[in-house]
Amino acid sequence: MKRALGCAAVALLATSCEQDVSKPNYEYSPDMVGAVAYESFSPNPVTKDGRTLMLPAPGSLARSQMPHHFKAGPEEAARAGRELKNPYPASPEVLARGKMAFARYCSPCHGSGGLGDGLVTARFPSPPSLLADHARGLPDGQLFHIVTHGQGLMPAHGSQVMPEDRWKIVHFIRSLQNPQQTARQEAP
Ligand code: HEC
Repeated sequence: MKRALGCAAVALLATSCEQDVSKPNYEYSPDMVGAVAYESFSPNPVTKDGRTLMLPAPGSLARSQMPHHFKAGPEEAARAGRELKNPYPASPEVLARGKMAFARYCSPCHGSGGLGDGLVTARFPSPPSLLADHARGLPDGQLFHIVTHGQGLMPAHGSQVMPEDRWKIVHFIRSLQNPQQTARQEAP
């Protein structure tokens, strides 16, 4: 009995695969087949703004986009210092990422420990130490702004370093400035 059923199934499969390409296939439930689709950018009488792909609501952000409402310059840097907070926690993973990004983008000038003794300082004016009182006194948002837009002789890094990595670099700079506190945080 089992074998007979098996043969029948094989026979059915075999016939269902046989196709006469000169005739249209049998349409099962054809309701959606004939639907008229609008093109994404064609006008549309049904939607509110008359477009098929409606405009996003004001203030919408693209996925993973971080808005940045600051221009270059010292006043804007100071405002960023007042208004922006580091959105990431100073976790070991964040610090490790910040360290890697700092080594890649900042250490050629600032040195891997932030002392202002990077390789290019032989031919380029030395940056101030990031461990000095001045840099310690800069709020997180201002550090983020300086990395994004540059400052004085330092070129802007907004186009090279992703915003999230800029914030992680800020945590790494803090960890250079306060190694003991970081060690305490990382202790289990
Ligand atoms: C091409 C060399 C160069 C690179 C690369 C560079 N910097 Fe700088 N940086 C400077 C110089 C020079 C200054 C001093 C700018 C001035 O005020 O004239 C400076 C200043 C700063 C300051 C302000 C310090 C203070 O006390 O005012 C911070 C913070 C800083 N850099 C962080 C970074 C970070 C973070 C990176 C990496 C994303 C980076 N820099 C990459 C050269 C560089």
